[in-house]
Amino acid sequence: MSVFLPDESATEALATRLAAALPPRTAGLTLLLRGDLGAGKSTFARALIRSLGHSGAVPSPTYTLVEPYDLPGGMVYHVDLYRVSSEDELRYLGWTELDEGFRIVEWPDRAPGIAARADISVEFEYEEPGRRASIVGLSPDGKRIVARLDTATATEPVN
Ligand SMILES: Nc1ncnc2c1ncn2[C@@H]1O[C@H](COP(=O)(O)OP(=O)(O)OP(=O)(O)O)[C@@H](O)[C@H]1O
Ligand SMILES: [Mg+2]
Repeated sequence: MSVFLPDESATEALATRLAAALPPRTAGLTLLLRGDLGAGKSTFARALIRSLGHSGAVPSPTYTLVEPYDLPGGMVYHVDLYRVSSEDELRYLGWTELDEGFRIVEWPDRAPGIAARADISVEFEYEEPGRRASIVGLSPDGKRIVARLDTATATEPVN
């Protein structure tokens, strides 16, 4: 599905809707956040992590690579691969140790192996003055989640 996001609050609202479409236990899921610099990936991730029960700051993982959150649905790992230039570097990230959690990954295409095994992709594009988000379910689980999101969006009342 594809949605126009006129402003930052629309990006946050979409993240909140995705949170509502996720299963109660999110362990093992991988969500890819794609798009150019400033496209809205971190805005979306921050709102999603808050919707999953985190209150407080959501620091950028650009330098730490991963920021963990212990939330009601399980561990959530906010990952930013912007500074990763090869799959080898993921060893430092301890990627395989993140298996038991929900991985939210900015710049996933820096590590094609991760993108290849993901559940959902959200890609942000500039559509001035806002953005457009294209959401695709990649795995069977991901397709179910996106179908739920799609239905919820379609039945939303229009005022
Ligand atoms: N739908 C939208 N319309 C207009 N501006 C938006 C929208 N969503 C987010 N923004 C704004 O875009 C700017 C950049 O957002 P953000 O930091 O989330 O991007 P990013 O994709 O994480 O970038 P980077 O790759 O540099 O980390 C912020 O100022 C944010 O408020
Ligand atoms: Mg970012």
